Amino acid sequence: MKKLLVRGAIALVLGAALGVGFLWAVDNKDVAAREAAPLSPEQKLAQIEHGRYLAIAGDCVACHTREGGEEFAGGLPLLTPFGTIYAPNITPDPETGIGGWSTTDVYRALHLGKDKEKRNLYPAFSYHYYTKVSRTDAEAIGAYLLSLAPVKYEAPKNKLAFPFNIRFMLKGWNLFNFRPEHFKSDPSKPAQWNRGKYLVDGLGHCGACHTPKNIMFGDVGSKNLQGGVVEHWFASDLTNNKKTGLGNWTEEDIVTFLKTGGNNYSNAYGTMTDVVRHSTSQMTDGDLRAIALYLKSLPAGPDPKPSPKPSDAVMKLGQAAYEKSCADCHVADGTGIPGLYPPLAGNPNMNAKDPSSVIHILLAGTTKPLMGEGMPNYANLSDADIAAMSTYIRNSWGNNAPAVSEGAVKKLRKIVVKHAPKTAEAPAAPPPASEPAPTAEEAPEAAPAETK
Ligand code: HEC
Ligand code: HEC
Ligand code: HEC
Repeated sequence: MKKLLVRGAIALVLGAALGVGFLWAVDNKDVAAREAAPLSPEQKLAQIEHGRYLAIAGDCVACHTREGGEEFAGGLPLLTPFGTIYAPNITPDPETGIGGWSTTDVYRALHLGKDKEKRNLYPAFSYHYYTKVSRTDAEAIGAYLLSLAPVKYEAPKNKLAFPFNIRFMLKGWNLFNFRPEHFKSDPSKPAQWNRGKYLVDGLGHCGACHTPKNIMFGDVGSKNLQGGVVEHWFASDLTNNKKTGLGNWTEEDIVTFLKTGGNNYSNAYGTMTDVVRHSTSQMTDGDLRAIALYLKSLPAGPDPKPSPKPSDAVMKLGQAAYEKSCADCHVADGTGIPGLYPPLAGNPNMNAKDPSSVIHILLAGTTKPLMGEGMPNYANLSDADIAAMSTYIRNSWGNNAPAVSEGAVKKLRKIVVKHAPKTAEAPAAPPPASEPAPTAEEAPEAAPAETK
């Protein structure tokens, strides 16, 4: 018995050592410094300006800036299922930031997901998309970051549970979910299409939210951009499915949405608000058109299975609640007021299998909207009312999607209402007569910054 145990222990240690060796071997990549002629002062300035624009396309500022903090100085908490990761300071402060890094070091971070000391970085940093960014572009971003005024600020230490706090474990994650690669353009496609794909798959890291995740929170590659849930918001299907995706949108509709945060079909909300605010609204029309052209070329994702008709009782309850609280803006027939209040009839997000965004927007409303006054929160309504209303809008006016349960509302309420921002904007429409909307004081406590 004892012998067996000893043998088992030896096997385990050997197995672990082999595993470690294997992981090290497959992830022992580095980038070589490259010899390049020194840049003239004009070329250096042009490189920095190019990098500034690319950093916008990569939305680096969104994660690397904490609420009220200096841009790029870090400290924003990213809540992952394994604990909290704090985005570090990427201004060139020598002690707390990336002072002392070279542009090659920044390229290594983006291309391989490793820091200056070649330690693996957590995939909360979107390096599995940024890997596609060309070396020239990555170094330009580096040159831009290194040209910023250094800010002395140390981001808090990550709070991760064992064994996720061991960086070496990330080699295992990378083994299953990451291949360092550069973007390969498709010569059979126009340059604009290739530019769009380069931006969507690389710097734009659209798939970070819009692609469904596997159990390790890596991308399900076969369902690229078919819609996924990140931070309890459902990021829409961006394929050309007419029911759940962008099938009815023109390229112009996509450009308008990314530029302004809204169009006749939809307004940006949830985590998309920050993407538009810090990134796409500041991109050139040419790049937005390239993104739109590429997205419109994606084949439609599969149609959702038809969902059974919800019970009449639930539909009646939902309709009554909808007509009382929502019809002022979204109109009784769900057509909304295009450009102001999005239509819910035929809205792809209503037809999505996953109801996270519908429940979430009802519980939390929207803050800092890009268009108009946003949507008030309805956290004061019961789980049953919110479930019935969600079910009703997902199954009226031609929409069809699985009914929403009270339990699903209850579960999300526990998570999002705690984090929900104060609804600074009072509802523009009169609040429901019997159940007044919460005033600022009654509203749930202020939230940490919207994280991504
Ligand atoms: C989705 C959030 C997110 C976005 C977007 C993001 N980062 Fe980060 N970044 C992080 C996090 C979190 C870390 C720390 C990971 C860790 O602790 O392992 C990090 C780490 C880094 C590091 C390593 C710093 C160090 O001290 O080790 C660099 C460099 C960096 N990011 C640059 C960028 C650039 C450039 C962009 C834009 C192209 C960007 N990041 C966009 C979240 C993000
Ligand atoms: C941090 C997460 C996140 C990232 C990154 C992100 N999105 Fe989104 N996006 C969302 C969420 C959540 C929604 C659903 C809410 C809404 O409609 O605004 C959304 C909605 C959209 C919509 C509207 C779809 C509809 O049917 O209403 C478009 C178009 C879109 N995103 C395009 C993009 C593109 C292009 C990129 C990359 C450049 C991108 N998104 C990156 C989270 C994200
Ligand atoms: C004061 C006007 C107003 C009222 C009242 C209102 N909404 Fe909204 N709603 C909006 C706006 C505006 C948006 C778009 C998000 C933004 O711009 O912040 C929106 C977005 C939505 C969305 C997301 C649509 C999409 O494209 O994915 C849903 C779902 C929704 N509302 C449902 C409701 C329901 C259900 C009610 C009633 C409980 C309601 N709304 C009441 C203004 C309103």
